[in-house]
Amino acid sequence: MNFIKVNTYEELSARAAAIICGQVAIKPSCVLGLATGSSPLGTYAKMAEKNRAGEVDFSQVKSVNLDEYVGLDGGHDQSYRYFMNNNLFKNINIDIKNTYVPNGCADDIEAECKAYDELIKSLGGIDLQLLGIGYDGHIGFNEPDSYFEKATHRVTLDPSTIEANSRFFASSEDVPKTAITMGMGGIMSAKRVLLIANGKGKREIVEKAFFGPITPNVPASILQLHPDLTVIYSEN
Ligand code: GLP
Repeated sequence: MNFIKVNTYEELSARAAAIICGQVAIKPSCVLGLATGSSPLGTYAKMAEKNRAGEVDFSQVKSVNLDEYVGLDGGHDQSYRYFMNNNLFKNINIDIKNTYVPNGCADDIEAECKAYDELIKSLGGIDLQLLGIGYDGHIGFNEPDSYFEKATHRVTLDPSTIEANSRFFASSEDVPKTAITMGMGGIMSAKRVLLIANGKGKREIVEKAFFGPITPNVPASILQLHPDLTVIYSEN
């Protein structure tokens, strides 16, 4: 594991964007695994800056997102499809047809999950997966459990996650109770993994996940077993 501690969110975002853009430079048609949440916002802004400056070209890149709320369609301003369109895709020269987010409004959620894993396979797998981390150690929406779930699946969100994410909704009642998330198999199969975390509040979970025992109770801890993991943490 490559654990990088930086001093500011700005530095974290610049480092993460440099790694992602470096990946695109090495392989212009790469598959990027992307994440939502507040942590990647700075990274996405820097990626757009580099794209505008002509330093990186996303025209051949494909992207697969980690997760989506069940019941929210892409037009809902709290859906992850909407988040990605607004915070990244519309600001870079990626072809929107090459961007994939699970469909939280599919009639058959189980079939959607299966199809999502097939899609990732058909794209040749993920070259670089970007991750944030939840306060309970979740990655994507893989919540603490007694085992690591491998495939893309539907999850019931933890009350603590609903509470944490309610800041974006009118009230916690409005937060969907379930979501589709890529499983640990999909994440661990990515050739490279980049996890970003910032703020004093994330310090405890970062210590547990990367310097504590590997346990499904702290889902991110499995990343310690990944052969190419970079973690960037900023306390501020
Ligand atoms: C959500 C997302 C996760 C993300 C987490 C942390 O639950 N499903 O992928 O890592 O939030 O978000 P933040 O970066 O805002 O702390």
